[in-house]
Amino acid sequence: MKILVSAGPTREPIDAVRFLSNRSTGRMGIAVARAAAEAGHEVALVLGPVAIEPPDGVRVVRVETALEMLAALRAELPAADALVMAAAVADFRPAAPAARKLHKGEMPAAIQLVRNPDILAGLRPLKGNRIFCGFAAETDDVLASAARKLARKGLDLIVANDVTAPGAGFAVDTNVVTVLRPGAAPERWPLLSKIDVARRLVALLETLATERPAP
Ligand code: CTP
Repeated sequence: MKILVSAGPTREPIDAVRFLSNRSTGRMGIAVARAAAEAGHEVALVLGPVAIEPPDGVRVVRVETALEMLAALRAELPAADALVMAAAVADFRPAAPAARKLHKGEMPAAIQLVRNPDILAGLRPLKGNRIFCGFAAETDDVLASAARKLARKGLDLIVANDVTAPGAGFAVDTNVVTVLRPGAAPERWPLLSKIDVARRLVALLETLATERPAP
């Protein structure tokens, strides 16, 4: 299969040196890219700014902002059989980023924000019979919000996790996830390393690919 993965945070500039972002390290999405490549798939990884190295054998497209991530994924999606959207897209960006560094005396007391597009929603018209997998990192009401996102974003599956649970969340190498699919009971996976979650996810994508209708 040709698997397209997004990972990491996005950075939304305030000025030439400051940005808004989030705590994503890219570990989970990079693990998915690694597992997919190890399983023999052709992998493109659209990667926000992260400190860790992407795996060998994966084609990496580096992006910074949500708008750049959307453009890169839109360009890559036509060639893909599956999209795994593990990136933590910043939902807002400063409305008028300054091209140069603002001195502290020039900083406004409040920064006006505008909504970033929902990337998965934006890619939906291009979905065809591609498999779309989302991630939902939640802190409360985990399964209910993940189920709402599964439906609202028209996904084939969503990997939900409670980022406050022991062994889950940002900057740790393990995860505890529940996989939701339309019309199926939620499937809770045990505490696993992120690479093992990724391997199981890739195996699930392979199964779903054999079940999907011909284009
Ligand atoms: N996502 C996306 N574009 C965005 C925000 C999120 O494509 N602007 C994707 C994420 O990569 C993830 C899924 O949508 O696969 C769920 O992300 P989440 O941040 O939980 O969803 P939101 O729609 O932002 O939901 P909310 O802020 O209401 O919790």
